[in-house]
Amino acid sequence: MSTTREPRREGSSPRFGSKVYTFQTIDSTNNCARVLAGCWAEEGTVVIAEEQTAGKGRLGRTWLATPGENLTFSIILRPDLPSEEMNLLPLFVAVGIAAAVESVISMKVQCKWPNDLLLNGKKFAGVLMEGAVSNNAVDFVVVGIGINVNQTLFPPELAGRATSLRLATGAPIDRDTLFRAILLSLETEYDALSASGFHQVLPRWLSYAPIVGRQVTIAQGGSVLHGTVKGISKHGGLILETGGEQRVVFAGDVTILNMEPYAARN
Ligand code: BTN
Repeated sequence: MSTTREPRREGSSPRFGSKVYTFQTIDSTNNCARVLAGCWAEEGTVVIAEEQTAGKGRLGRTWLATPGENLTFSIILRPDLPSEEMNLLPLFVAVGIAAAVESVISMKVQCKWPNDLLLNGKKFAGVLMEGAVSNNAVDFVVVGIGINVNQTLFPPELAGRATSLRLATGAPIDRDTLFRAILLSLETEYDALSASGFHQVLPRWLSYAPIVGRQVTIAQGGSVLHGTVKGISKHGGLILETGGEQRVVFAGDVTILNMEPYAARN
């Protein structure tokens, strides 16, 4: 089942969500949004589904979400950005979601590089970005966002690492309010960064992510890097001091050692 909502609902953002394709069930909102983007759907077009039968996570994983309890949606962006700055986009998306969630639930949110979002040290949201590049410039990007909103039961393999807004706050959250807040926040961040340069997201993101100076491990496929985080590079990579040298890492699963201070943001 598919519908097109137009014009946008009261209170939603001017461009992001001005066109929303809503599905009861779909394989993956990212897959659908990629097809739409290839057919010249305009920037800000959103695909949202109650249920994904093949929801995709980062690094080839599956994204599991109980139907009807969460938010699973994708937004099409067409940023005017050289391809080497593409890795700044996950940071902008994480900041936009963090600001919106904080405004709705009045709790501190942490960002975990590159684009996970945590409450009390547990993940409640993830972002999967898929894009197309031509002539060294970004053609389009599909930003896929999965947020655990009202889900209270998680599979055993996620227990202890996953949470939801409902679990963190103890109260059910209105998904529509949250959805509109996120679209508005993302659009506000996006417009500001498009005007000022996407590198301006770095201090914003770091204010949600006290990771500099921390010892981490970064799992990349079969290998694991150990080191100390020295900062975020101008292109969004993690600057890691490891084995007496600095290297910039653009992908992987970060585990912060001695985790406890990461749970609190000033
Ligand atoms: C991750 O943390 O691994 C990223 C998860 C991204 C999940 C969202 S749900 C909506 C969109 N459609 C997908 O198939 N994946 C993303």
